[in-house]
Order: sequence, then structure tokens, then C-alpha cells
Amino acid sequence: MKLKTVSDSDCIKIATLEAQVFSDPWSEESIKDNVHSDNYLVMGAFEDEDLLGYVIYMLLSEEAELLRIAVKEEARNKGVATSLLDVMRNKTREEVKEVKSLFLEVRENNTAARKLYEKTGFVEVGMRKNYYSNPTENAVLYKMEID
Ligand SMILES: CC(C)(COP(=O)(O)OP(=O)(O)OC[C@H]1O[C@@H](n2cnc3c(N)ncnc32)[C@H](O)[C@@H]1OP(=O)(O)O)[C@@H](O)C(=O)NCCC(=O)NCCS
Repeated sequence: MKLKTVSDSDCIKIATLEAQVFSDPWSEESIKDNVHSDNYLVMGAFEDEDLLGYVIYMLLSEEAELLRIAVKEEARNKGVATSLLDVMRNKTREEVKEVKSLFLEVRENNTAARKLYEKTGFVEVGMRKNYYSNPTENAVLYKMEID
């Protein structure tokens, strides 16, 4: 497995996985906008040309927010998401020095994602009631300090 910053030609692969995984999938065009923007970091995990998973961070001066992370079903539970989060933490620490903390929100019942976040160093800091729709669900907020 190889982890790298994604290029334009990978965006269709991300959009395809988005459509399989999320009820509000992002389009190829909006993913391309993120890839071209200095305010976003988009990393993918690849096996040869095959996209196994990806992660998207938005950079907001001293804070960054994890907006999306997904791994294709056949590649889950093999540490792909853990590797993506580890590489992102190192990248923000080394290349985006003003970032001091990472935030994210996740559906309360998304056990796999919550375990992933807790395992990789995120700490629960709050909740937003009925934040999500389709289906309606609370959001749990997590934070990680970057040293
Ligand atoms: C959440 C997700 C990204 C995890 O990806 P992954 O590559 O399978 O995760 P990893 O293999 O790195 O596992 C990390 C930890 O998560 C937990 N985990 C992963 N899958 C799990 C599952 N199905 N049930 C419970 N815990 C799970 C485990 O604690 C695991 O650590 P361990 O192997 O040391 O026990 C993946 O399940 C996914 O794409 N889900 C759909 C999209 C999503 O919900 N994204 C998050 C919201 S934006």
C-alpha cells in the first residue's frame, strides 16, 4: 500500500467511493476543487492504481477539520484508515505548522469510525443534538492537539 497526495485523475475514484459510502456524496468536481485548493489536504491510500481509501482535511489557520474519511469495504479492518490518519498528522505537523488542533464530527452510532478516532488520539469534546439528517442523528465532536 502506498499513501500519497491525490491528483486530478484520482478524483473520479474518490467520487465513486463517496457514492458507495455516504448518503450525501461529494461530486468529482467538488473533490477536484478541494485538491486544487491550498485550504484542503486530500490523501489517498493506493494498491497500484486501485484506491483503497482517502481522507480530506480542511485547513483553517490554527485549526484543521477532518471532513471525510472512507475505505472501500473489501479493504476495511486492515489498518488503511489508521495509516491515513497517521500520515495526515505528520503532514500537518511538518508542513502546516500553524495548525494546532484537529477537529471532526461523526455520527453517534458510527462505532467503527469512533473507535478509529479514539485509537488514533482524538478525544471526545462535545455533542450536537440531531445534527445529521437522512437519518437524523446526534454528532459527536472530537479534537486532537498537534504538538
Ligand atoms: C471508519 C472507516 C474509515 C475505518 O476504516 P478501516 O481502514 O477499516 O479502519 P482501520 O482498519 O484502520 O481500523 C481502525 C480501528 O477502527 C476500529 N474499527 C474498524 N472497523 C470496525 C468495525 N467494523 N467495528 C468496530 N470497530 C472497527 C477498530 O478499533 C480498529 O482498530 P483495531 O484494528 O486496532 O481494533 C471505514 O469503516 C469506513 O470507510 N466507513 C464508512 C465511512 C465512514 O463512516 N467514515 C467516517 C465518517 S466521515
